[in-house]
Amino acid sequence: MTWRATVLTIMPDFFPGPLGLSLAGKALLEEKWSLATIDIRDFATDKYRSVDDTPAGGGAGMVMRADIAAAAIDAARLMMPPASPTIYLSPRGAPLTETHVDVLSEGPGVILLCGRFEGIDERVLEARQIEEVSIGDYVLSGGELAAMVLLDACVRLLPGIAGNAASLAEESFASGLLEYPHYTRPRDWEGHAIPEILLSGDHDKIAKWRKQQAEALTKSRRPDLWEKLKKR
Ligand code: 6GU
Repeated sequence: MTWRATVLTIMPDFFPGPLGLSLAGKALLEEKWSLATIDIRDFATDKYRSVDDTPAGGGAGMVMRADIAAAAIDAARLMMPPASPTIYLSPRGAPLTETHVDVLSEGPGVILLCGRFEGIDERVLEARQIEEVSIGDYVLSGGELAAMVLLDACVRLLPGIAGNAASLAEESFASGLLEYPHYTRPRDWEGHAIPEILLSGDHDKIAKWRKQQAEALTKSRRPDLWEKLKKR
């Protein structure tokens, strides 16, 4: 079965964007996944196609209307496998992790709701049981780029895509460690040599060295990951 993504957005022209190129783009052409967009404005009810309104209680910005968002979500759900989760991309969401990406890529697909404006009427998130996910502690002008990040991370895990299961298993986060440093030719570059051990041909020693490098990097750069690993 093809893994399916449906994106709800007021900027459908953003898609496929970079997802139409490189690894994800090739997989899209090969129908290993599919990407549909739904223009939320198609569910507007006025002649201006407006989807937002002023916040109840006052304040800055505009809020996406619950009725219009719900109509778009319901339309998406009708065309997607019933087990597909609906995810609202927002800086307020739970941080996206490789574990979550793994779970999503093993399912039938995802419905992604991209916000613009200050946010969306909270009632629709509750009434439609929508998960809220963030891609990091910074603010984007809309959820579209975050949706692309999530999709790229999922698509590369789909069967028959990465082409190299060993490199997937070894990379950062699969092991809970940051990746060890990599080197290739030339052997001497601007006076910088490749670490001698990597040229020794001793695969046990090389594996030990890489593990020790990965641990040292993780400890110094990501003490949060290191603490989590020690508790596992
Ligand atoms: Cl998912 N959306 C927006 N608009 N900003 C973000 C984000 C998402 N994650 C981090 N910043």
